[in-house]
Amino acid sequence: MIKSLFRKKTISSTLLTNEAGGAHTNLNKVLRAKDLTFFGIAAIIGGGTFSAIGNACYNGGPAVIFLYIICAVACGFTAMCYAEFASRVPVSGSAYTYAYVSFGELFAWIIGWALLMEYSIGNIYIAFSWSGYFTNLLDAIGLHLPEYLSINYKEAHRAFLENKIGSEGYWAWTKAPQLASLKIIFDLPAVAINVLITALVYIGTKESKNISNAMVVIKLAIIVLVILVGVFYINIDNWSPFMPNGFGGVMAAVSGVFFAYIGFDAVSTLAEECENPQRDLPKGMMYSLIICTVVFIVLCLVLTGMASYTLLGVSDPLAEIFKLKGVKWMLFVVSVAAVVAMSSVLLVFQMGQPRIWMAMSRDGLLPKKFSSIHPKYKTPGFSTVVTGFVVGLPLFFTDEKFVLDFTSIGTLFAFVLVCGGVLMLGEKKQDAEHEGGKNKFKLPYINAKYIIPALVFFSVALLHFFQPNYIQELLRINGTNAQKNIPMLVFMLLCVVLSVLSFIKNLSLIPVLGLLSCCYLLTGMEASNWAWFSTWLFLGLIVYFSYGYKKSVLAKKA
Ligand code: ALA
Repeated sequence: MIKSLFRKKTISSTLLTNEAGGAHTNLNKVLRAKDLTFFGIAAIIGGGTFSAIGNACYNGGPAVIFLYIICAVACGFTAMCYAEFASRVPVSGSAYTYAYVSFGELFAWIIGWALLMEYSIGNIYIAFSWSGYFTNLLDAIGLHLPEYLSINYKEAHRAFLENKIGSEGYWAWTKAPQLASLKIIFDLPAVAINVLITALVYIGTKESKNISNAMVVIKLAIIVLVILVGVFYINIDNWSPFMPNGFGGVMAAVSGVFFAYIGFDAVSTLAEECENPQRDLPKGMMYSLIICTVVFIVLCLVLTGMASYTLLGVSDPLAEIFKLKGVKWMLFVVSVAAVVAMSSVLLVFQMGQPRIWMAMSRDGLLPKKFSSIHPKYKTPGFSTVVTGFVVGLPLFFTDEKFVLDFTSIGTLFAFVLVCGGVLMLGEKKQDAEHEGGKNKFKLPYINAKYIIPALVFFSVALLHFFQPNYIQELLRINGTNAQKNIPMLVFMLLCVVLSVLSFIKNLSLIPVLGLLSCCYLLTGMEASNWAWFSTWLFLGLIVYFSYGYKKSVLAKKA
């Protein structure tokens, strides 16, 4: 039993199964490095850039650029691991497929299940945010949607219970029409954009690619415009103090900043629609990450230079800053950019999810229907429609507060497994015959033997030097600080374990750094996030043992 839970696919069999099954050969192979870079940017620049950046600047001041750099480094290491995997296993499924090859079936199922959460929950959040900006735009041109059609039920109910008279939610609750005893309150634009995007993804990759590329051009152009106009309003006095709340203030924004980077991994779900995945997937991921990091840093500097960081703690900081400066025409431009940016994020995530389902179905872990390809449109039609429902239905009974951290924890979990997977995979030469192709990406091997132990040693020494009581305080666990201290202690233990393993096993430096940096970011997650995430994983295990475990292709072969 235990052994069968960890049954693994080999890289060769993964490729051969898909070739023999012929399913993926029906997908349109139309994507190149440029398209993948555009897809990456399409997925990355969205709610995090137009919204979370405000609170990040508010917490950290101009020095928040360091946090963007730290997250970029963590994502960069992970992207290299993704690229290494993508170049070895160029089929759809992203981290799910990679986990199947390196950890075995049970972990693959868990990661696939976590990724579904990343994409679906992420899209629920973005659909709600999209609706907020879209409603603003409609207001700007004199069209007003009734409150009960532009807010979700839960939020309206909460506003009523909390007696927030005058708020949008309160209005929605008191003015909504009723069907029997049920109040008709739902976020119409969020539901509508989900239907539209699902239809677009259903119709075809090529069509989606062209629209996605156009949206990326528009959003980048507008962000450049924001920067160019903003530069004229910079007063360098606003950059002082540079780190007003210390490094703690900078790190306080870690969830929101990390959310801004989520998306580069979605590129790897498109492996089977690439002309040359081994060459182009790594390029697509790295280029999009680099471009977005530059955009984030410049944008942060412009925002914090235009006005005091204390004024930026709002949900629409880019609009707010031009409002403060009295540049009204830019308000409209920024709203258009936000709507376009979020649409492209929705599109990429909505494309990614069905492709993971498709990969799971091919392996027998989900019913066969999930891997059926539409005869005319050559897309995973059934999975695409199911995705539409998975994102669409919760829009009626959940709210955005709940979904943001959930997305980050699922994504970080996936990243940890990808970095760990590269370490487990090692240098498997037997699959070399499948790794052909010019310009194939190869993760540079740097021996971590001395570097990781030295890094850990110096970090502890620095910590001891600057905060002599830090470790004693960490060890003093009580009810109030347990939530913060326990994850940090676990992280420190992991550092020690990885130092020892690096020394003994000559581990590769990049995946070790990726693993450590993602685990560090995980220490910032709250206990309630862990509780929800564990519940989700438990549900996944029930599904796996009642279906996938018995129906798995590997189970039939055994
Ligand atoms: N990075 C994506 C966004 O900011 C998820 O919306």
